[in-house]
Amino acid sequence: MTPPGADLLPGRATFEPTAARLAELLRGGGPDGPLFEAARDRLLSGVGDGVYLRGIVEISNRCRKNCLYCGLRRDNRRVRRYSMTAGGILDALRSGYAAGLRSFLLQSGELPEPDRIELVREVLRATAREMPGARMVLSMGELPEDVLRSLRDAGAHRYLLRIEASSRELYGRFHPGDGLHDHDVRRAVLEDLRATGWQTGTGVLIGLPGQTPEDLASDLLFMRDLDIDMCGMGPLLLHEDTPLGGMEDLLPPPAERVLLTLRMIALLRLMMPTINISATTALQTLDPAGLEKGLSAGANVVMPNLTPPDYRRDYDLYRGKSQVVDHLPEVLRRLGDRCAATGRRIVLADPGDPVHFLSRTADPARGAADAVP
Ligand code: 5AD
Ligand code: SF4
Repeated sequence: MTPPGADLLPGRATFEPTAARLAELLRGGGPDGPLFEAARDRLLSGVGDGVYLRGIVEISNRCRKNCLYCGLRRDNRRVRRYSMTAGGILDALRSGYAAGLRSFLLQSGELPEPDRIELVREVLRATAREMPGARMVLSMGELPEDVLRSLRDAGAHRYLLRIEASSRELYGRFHPGDGLHDHDVRRAVLEDLRATGWQTGTGVLIGLPGQTPEDLASDLLFMRDLDIDMCGMGPLLLHEDTPLGGMEDLLPPPAERVLLTLRMIALLRLMMPTINISATTALQTLDPAGLEKGLSAGANVVMPNLTPPDYRRDYDLYRGKSQVVDHLPEVLRRLGDRCAATGRRIVLADPGDPVHFLSRTADPARGAADAVP
């Protein structure tokens, strides 16, 4: 058995690995136990044993982009495109609020049209009035600075924008070079979000063809250097109506992609003990025990889907994504049981602001919504 390495021994206060050390741990070769145990230790001291819930509403699957892996890409003509109304979105949010959720993600493809932005502002203003204590998270792609400001003014608190791959070169292989998919712009939007008071989240795809452990190590260092508050990263899953559809043979096998994702979660938890990390839907799609495994590796957020069933089917980023729909209280009860079985507890009636954000902003006592950069 390979010794775990002194940096993973219990009680270590910091974990400041080199890129080479990260790549070595990502490559595996030895037992993963010490890594996951160290991550669990750091999770408990950093954010505790709570599992925070974020209700997702997939408000529209229209997108102007053409990412090569994504089922919602502009050139996929086989998708039935939809945009929910403000009323429909609010109904979905209300059902989540009534069940005790206090953090909601509005997600869509990237389409910065004035109508869509105004609809989201309307929803944000209504939630601020109707749902005290709720934190609104947006994931709508790259938006101009003034639009982002107006969304924040309307009541949004958090923004998620995955960098997808921190290496410009790797990103370039899976995004058209048409000027619309510009790694530098994406990175600049993330830096602006971080600097203008948003709780900022990013993430990467794991298992892209040709991606190396060194690439993933750089992704981890990128997230640490950006000093993010939240992370969602998951394995790549193929969608048959995309250019990557038939490339199964070029990807690490599913079990390896799951393991890589778990190592990424554990390493990020060690590097950034107080951020929020989600056990993503993609991880849960690829492995039926993805939820438990993700939580055990260091994740502390799960995202129940509140999108009405009719639309959910069409928010088809990858094969197998849309799940059987259940009554929300029943979903939460089952989630609670599964978390309890891994020694964790679901936290309701709490927005679960990232501890990292609270401690990096000027006066945590004032709450994240009022925090200034
Ligand atoms: N497999 C896994 N994740 C995907 N995403 C898009 N397409 C896929 C896929 N085929 C992820 C991207 C995007 C997020 C909304 O969904 O990382 O940022
Ligand atoms: Fe659009 Fe996002 Fe899919 Fe890219 S990953 S095509 S931006 S929905």
